[in-house]
Amino acid sequence: MNPLAADHSAAPRPQPEVVLCASNVSKKFGATQALDEASIQICSGGVHILLGENGAGKSTLAKIFAGVHRPDAGQIEVRGQAVEIGDARTARELGIGIVFQELSLAPHLSVLDNIFLGAEAKRRPFSFLSRGEEARRCRNVLEMLDLDVPLQAPVSSLPIAQKQLVEIAKVLARDAKIIIMDEPTSTLTDREKQALFRVIGVLKQRGVAILYVTHHLQEVELIGDFVSAMVNGRVTQSCPVTPALTELKLVSMLTGREVREFTRAKPRTPSSPLLTIAALKSKSGCKDVALTVGRGEIVGVYGVVGCGRESLGRVLVGLEAHSSGEIHMDGRPYRPRHPAHARGLGMSYLPMDRKQKGILPNRSIRENLNLMNLRDFSTIGGMLSRSRERERSTRVLDELLVRFDSQEKPITTLSGGNQQKVLFGRAIAGAPKVIVMEDPTVGIDIGAKADLYRLMHELRNRGISFLIFSSDLLETLKICDRIYSMYAGRIVREYADPTMNDEAQILSDILGQELHRAAIH
Ligand SMILES: Nc1ncnc2c1ncn2[C@@H]1O[C@H](COP(=O)(O)OP(=O)(O)O)[C@@H](O)[C@H]1O
Ligand SMILES: [Mg+2]
Repeated sequence: MNPLAADHSAAPRPQPEVVLCASNVSKKFGATQALDEASIQICSGGVHILLGENGAGKSTLAKIFAGVHRPDAGQIEVRGQAVEIGDARTARELGIGIVFQELSLAPHLSVLDNIFLGAEAKRRPFSFLSRGEEARRCRNVLEMLDLDVPLQAPVSSLPIAQKQLVEIAKVLARDAKIIIMDEPTSTLTDREKQALFRVIGVLKQRGVAILYVTHHLQEVELIGDFVSAMVNGRVTQSCPVTPALTELKLVSMLTGREVREFTRAKPRTPSSPLLTIAALKSKSGCKDVALTVGRGEIVGVYGVVGCGRESLGRVLVGLEAHSSGEIHMDGRPYRPRHPAHARGLGMSYLPMDRKQKGILPNRSIRENLNLMNLRDFSTIGGMLSRSRERERSTRVLDELLVRFDSQEKPITTLSGGNQQKVLFGRAIAGAPKVIVMEDPTVGIDIGAKADLYRLMHELRNRGISFLIFSSDLLETLKICDRIYSMYAGRIVREYADPTMNDEAQILSDILGQELHRAAIH
């Protein structure tokens, strides 16, 4: 049986007391449809997990509940009343508190002031409290979280995990009845996570409704009562967390069920090996990796977050040295000392998080495109030839099918898909041999996706190789000539000519031993 065919609709629903309800909520950012008629119901006294891959729209939905964004369409109800959450204050008055994914603390203010000062409001929301009372409450909350920091310490002096906990403390101190946490554990250690999960247990008993956004499947088992999956801006499935809900079913929820056209280019004649990796170990998570990438081949490595693919990527692009094993490129030992060195050796990198690591938001389209290749344009005097640069940029942008008015405008005037094409253009400049890509099409519209796939296949046919780390299995199956499944730092299996029929086997590979457990409870 195809495990993806599992049907949750028959599962009995617990008696819900719905406190927060979104119906057919849509939201567009430029050309990006972040939410597409998303609907969800959150009940009191429980933890509702919202699962979804990067770019699925989870944070956008959370921010609509928090009054940060207004929906283009759809309804929100709080305790049965239709509401418009126009700003953060309205959300607070409705009893909604949110722990943002990007922290919203005022770095120069103290822990105490951050917890009691509305970030956006000048007036103190707790003005009726004495300073002493504030401090007492604050200490209680910090104690609950097992967080030992001086109340007067400026938040900027704290390590990131503690900032995250202060962010959580801020919401707890407000006595919210509906608490939204957007990927709250991303920076926390195991011990800090345990403290947070304990607090979540206490809140549940007090009848608080918790919407908990994550892409970690394990957290469903640990704290979830109900789980919804979000794919491409829609809530595609919701069901109670029961023993019958296996990790395999969760993976199928997470990757989505919608049927997509499958048009991988036809198999090609085998290519000669370009990159070979043998018995590779790294500190950050490769335990024993062996794989090859042929010349003019698109190779995918597929596994869950934490399987070691991030670490493999770091080693290849020069962010981390491997501790043992061998890498050869073009028959020569390959050991990049830093990313620029890796680039010089022919290894180009297109990172996943284009906002954090990719684009320079204040710079123009042209500058973003040419960032890595300024040497190409230097003249004898060492000056850049602006006209040569502009001429080349125009040609590249045309080839990349980027839709733009003027290349001198900030890159942020482009849609996500067009921004990604510019970064792709940057990655292919300087004639790389291999391009490492993480989630190459996350958050970009379908048209731009198709363009990028086409560009990749074109470059492949010109002999450039790709190593793709995508969290989207359907995408991996669609664009890769060969796929390796990865689990716990090791390659599990090679798929020499992958097809959609390999989906179930790959899913079982990447879950390792997990598959043999009948249930997650
Ligand atoms: N403020 C914004 N401006 C433009 N695009 C945005 C903005 N916020 C989110 N997006 C886009 O909307 C989509 C959904 O993003 P998000 O809600 O952050 O997803 P998730 O939290 O599930 O990773 C992505 O394509 C993202 O790039
Ligand atoms: Mg998010």
